[in-house]
Amino acid sequence: MSSSTVEKIKERLDIVEVIGSYVKLTKAGRHFKGLSPFNSEKTPSFFVSPDKGVFYCFSSGKGGDIFTFIQEVESVDFSGALKILAGRAGVPIEYESLEKRSERDGLFSILESASKFFEENLAKNEEAKKYILSRGISEKTIEEWHIGYAESSWRALHDFLLAKKYALSDLERVGVVKKSEGGKTYDTFRDRIIFPLYDLAARIIGFSGRILHPDPNAPKYLNSPDTVLFNKSEALYGLNRAKQAIRKSDFSVLVEGQMDMVMSHQAGVLQTVATSGTALTDTHLKALKKISNRLIMAFDPDQAGFAASLRGADLALSLGMEVKVALLPKGKDPSDLVKEDPKAWTAVLKDARHLLDFYLEKLLDEVKDPRALARRITTDLLPYLKLVASSMEQSHFVKKIAAKSGLKEEAIWEDLKKVKGKEFVRDTSPPSIPTDTLSSSDYLLGLYFRDESSPAALEIKKQFESLLGTEKFKELVSENESRKSALVMKAEEFSVNEGEKGMSTLFRRFSKDFWEEEYVRTGETLKVAEKAGDEAVFDEALKRCQEIRRTIDNFAGKL
Ligand code: CTP
Ligand code: MN
Repeated sequence: MSSSTVEKIKERLDIVEVIGSYVKLTKAGRHFKGLSPFNSEKTPSFFVSPDKGVFYCFSSGKGGDIFTFIQEVESVDFSGALKILAGRAGVPIEYESLEKRSERDGLFSILESASKFFEENLAKNEEAKKYILSRGISEKTIEEWHIGYAESSWRALHDFLLAKKYALSDLERVGVVKKSEGGKTYDTFRDRIIFPLYDLAARIIGFSGRILHPDPNAPKYLNSPDTVLFNKSEALYGLNRAKQAIRKSDFSVLVEGQMDMVMSHQAGVLQTVATSGTALTDTHLKALKKISNRLIMAFDPDQAGFAASLRGADLALSLGMEVKVALLPKGKDPSDLVKEDPKAWTAVLKDARHLLDFYLEKLLDEVKDPRALARRITTDLLPYLKLVASSMEQSHFVKKIAAKSGLKEEAIWEDLKKVKGKEFVRDTSPPSIPTDTLSSSDYLLGLYFRDESSPAALEIKKQFESLLGTEKFKELVSENESRKSALVMKAEEFSVNEGEKGMSTLFRRFSKDFWEEEYVRTGETLKVAEKAGDEAVFDEALKRCQEIRRTIDNFAGKL
């Protein structure tokens, strides 16, 4: 991509206007300030400098230009931010030459062409169009989600794309064409209503197709195979459009099918996303959690896969999300409800209950014998309660369980202490260096205290001193003197196998943390100077912020 594209975009877009569409900004001298979009805060620590075209967020330690901002706020990569901003600026993305145009972009354009082809086919095919409308989907929804139709032919798309000079091998790579055992290539999607699937930058990454004429030998829904662009355990259908609403209202709604997703949006529930023919994964949930910690899941209480859906909810709970469950009326899914009456769907969502309330009710309903109930509460319910991070929330539920089951609160607390939190399969590759339990400086100090004259300790001392200075390091050591044995014990747990590589990772992490704190400290100076109207100090601090930012950015990717 030509670097002039980035320049052109920056020339045309006003940073205050771009950021202003996400954050309410007010003028403060030569700068603008507002509440951080990355943290919840009451006093503004988010600054925009129109002269320099940069922003600084002192509560989260983030900063950069409009591209960085869009990457952060929209959770997209650089090329995703480029697409969004180019669209906004009305600047075409120019590539230096066709060869330089990245392979990935070429693949995206195949799917884009295929989608247009499907949309045109739908307009031409009366039966397919009639079917979609009969499901309650409006013309507007068809347009918004670019719903299309793949005709009942073996090579319609195949021939169309080859005529556009795309390579056959690339058509296979993006999953729109398959090869038979005899070596013949044919269209993956045939006689199907097509739902394009998007990434966060609204680029098509694959399709999901619902069969128009049900056939016992073909699945009702067919998804693109996993490709270089599409990974079904990661993709959430609708997230590209839903993310704004999710951020704004601070909750998301998760449904199970394509129809449900588009119909829910049609009913005005713009926070809705769907998985595509897979069980909910860690990755799906983390993507949602990044935008909002609160999730509503719609369940069909009679469905065979009920337990499976519950497992998804458990997983969300174990990630520390607040999970609510909305119960659908027997035998109906969200799309059925919306078709009958959009309000019926929004009412179901309004009635959503906390997952733990839901479990409790279920147990109270199913288990009548008091002793059996007490047992089931301990074995089935408390492992989930254990996952609830907030102690206020925990005690709220303990009270509720006691009130409804007749058990004593103290007894429940006792059991809760003993019970193990439900464990779920998390990432398959556990980090060898623990990050949450203890900060990197604690580990380093523990290693240092373990044997202060060891080569490792001397190295640690040297590194600390070079970053903080001798005095500051002395202070750090004396401040932590009292925690010595605890730190050493923790450090023992730190895998010795990590050796020097592990230690240098810890140092990089510590340095990054250090600079981020420094950044926040400088931010404080900046705020004070701003209040006092001291332009000189303000400019000095701003300059320092820029330097620190660069230092921090240098750590990116090296951790
Ligand atoms: N699904 C799938 N493959 C299938 C069946 C279902 O991938 N063979 C996925 C689809 O994403 C589908 C979801 O599971 O949307 C739920 O399936 P189901 O309840 O059977 O379909 P509905 O969404 O109700 O579809 P429709 O209303 O169009 O019949
Ligand atoms: Mn359905």
